[in-house]
Amino acid sequence: MKAWRFEGGFGFENLRLVELPDPVPGAGEVLLEMRAAALNYRDLVVLRGQHGRRVQPPLIPLSDGVGVVAATGPGVTGLPPGTRVCPAFFQHWDGGPPPDDLEAGRLGGPLDGVLATACVFPAATVVPVPDHLSDAEAATLPCAGLTAWSALMAAPQICPGEVVLVLGTGGVALMAVQLAKAAGARVIVTTSTPERAAQVAGLGADLVIDRGATPDWAACVRAATDGMGADRVLELGGAATLPDTIRCTRVGGQIILIGNVTGNRAEIFLPAILTRQLTLRAVTVGSRQGLAALSRAIGQHGLRPVVGQTLPFAKAPDAFRILETQSVFGNICIRIGD
Ligand SMILES: NC(=O)c1ccc[n+]([C@@H]2O[C@H](COP(=O)([O-])OP(=O)(O)OC[C@H]3O[C@@H](n4cnc5c(N)ncnc54)[C@H](OP(=O)(O)O)[C@@H]3O)[C@@H](O)[C@H]2O)c1
Repeated sequence: MKAWRFEGGFGFENLRLVELPDPVPGAGEVLLEMRAAALNYRDLVVLRGQHGRRVQPPLIPLSDGVGVVAATGPGVTGLPPGTRVCPAFFQHWDGGPPPDDLEAGRLGGPLDGVLATACVFPAATVVPVPDHLSDAEAATLPCAGLTAWSALMAAPQICPGEVVLVLGTGGVALMAVQLAKAAGARVIVTTSTPERAAQVAGLGADLVIDRGATPDWAACVRAATDGMGADRVLELGGAATLPDTIRCTRVGGQIILIGNVTGNRAEIFLPAILTRQLTLRAVTVGSRQGLAALSRAIGQHGLRPVVGQTLPFAKAPDAFRILETQSVFGNICIRIGD
């Protein structure tokens, strides 16, 4: 089989296309012929060697992918050859509260990821995907899709009529807009350009704020909610956006901490949280059961993750370069096996 692998270090100079022995499924395992992979912001952090000491080369990158079952080991039932599945982002988190050593089971570091023509996973960690999705669309579900799902569906679950604010138009944000609309919420999105504003409005967002033209977007959110603020904010911006997010969350509302594209160290004014009884809750992707629930919901509502660009397997390093520029609206994906 072929795989892209960091060898001897991280960075583009160490990302190499290598030939490896074909994997063989053992008891309880499935062999997947990979069809597509998708990139997430986190994969850039891995590329830069900034993901902590546990994530070390040699390493096959990328957590998000989809493949078809090519063979199964002894004891596997219910996954006939040809079934199209995604492996769960966290291989050791089936459901319920996260295990203590959650990070040890993460694909794309420290565990080998999916940027390979064939992969073996425990059958209990893969989830069938809806037929209406293309391979590239399905590949986005394990991290980007599931993070959006967890931010909206983990307790307290989203209610119809709730006002949800989503920051930015990255992979997580675009899936969140669609899921929140399907759940009956009123959705407000901030973005950086008029072009992206028009694109996200096309996905069903009720109000889109161009933060380039409206730097005080928090005031805009308050004005659009009769001065009260959003019930739930998906905080994908991080250090630079959190203080404004706090300003535009309603009394008793919740801020779901997800991302840090603008930095890790935020300065926050505690009374603004304490006196208004805000809840700050972190989401870390989600469990395999969450992925299964997401897949079911996407199938039922006919939702489609937004794929902005798809590259061939041979050009995988270019996908990282494009992700770095933040120039693509939607997920960046890689076709595998053609
Ligand atoms: N906690 C978790 O489980 C989890 C899971 C997945 C991702 N994440 C994190 O979530 C963040 C987004 O991930 P992603 O994969 O969706 O990213 P992505 O696809 O690379 O998109 C990043 C987006 O961030 C937006 N952005 C940039 N600067 C911004 C700013 N100052 N304010 C608001 N938005 C800004 C941009 O959208 P606009 O140009 O439209 O503003 C951009 O498209 C990353 O920090 C990632 O590490 C966390």
